[in-house]
Amino acid sequence: MNTPIVILNFKTYIESSGLNALNLAKDLESAGEETGINMVAAPQAADIYRIKQETSIPIFAQNIDAITPGGHTGHDLIETLIEAGASGSLINHSEKRMKLADIENVIELTKEKGILSCLCTNNINTSKAAATLAPDYLAVEPPELIGSGIPVSQAQPEVVEDTVKEVKAINKDIKVLCGAGISTGEDMAAAIELGAEGVLLASGIIKADSPKEALIDLVSKI
Ligand code: G3P
Repeated sequence: MNTPIVILNFKTYIESSGLNALNLAKDLESAGEETGINMVAAPQAADIYRIKQETSIPIFAQNIDAITPGGHTGHDLIETLIEAGASGSLINHSEKRMKLADIENVIELTKEKGILSCLCTNNINTSKAAATLAPDYLAVEPPELIGSGIPVSQAQPEVVEDTVKEVKAINKDIKVLCGAGISTGEDMAAAIELGAEGVLLASGIIKADSPKEALIDLVSKI
């Protein structure tokens, strides 16, 4: 996928669940078509299949568990997510942290199955460690800024800039994204200026009066 990229994490907001998830995915699809920017939906697992049937946007799962088919009640199995329509997944989101060995295992599973991985981290040091696992995307998100409306690219520019520098020094093929508090065109432009190749975001778009207009504004200054 060409960068810059926008990944919208639907989380579990009511505005981005069930039928609302489908409508939001359609907004993403038309905003992506109008702006020419790659926009990815990361809905809840239960919403993936319907979005896949009714849109043509790339869909990432929010989580994959480090399991193989068998007795694992309540888990997210990679095979099912792919069959439903996922072409990638968030891994180790701040709201769904994983053990290091499981992160490695899940990244291996994504490579084996041919889907994309977006590994989430919380700071520069964990980003360096995460880079050794060679995900396709690495998204750095300081947890204290998540959902705060305070954009990481403006409040903690050094986190974005140094993460890009350190990750690229370890593996130049990893595309570095940033997230937390991003919502406007200025926020995304600042992220790109700092070297990020896209953003991972949620509430600023999901809670907007018009998510489609908010998405168009988000990419209007890059
Ligand atoms: O995964 C995106 C995320 O954690 C950032 O959330 O609401 O600050 O855009 P938000």
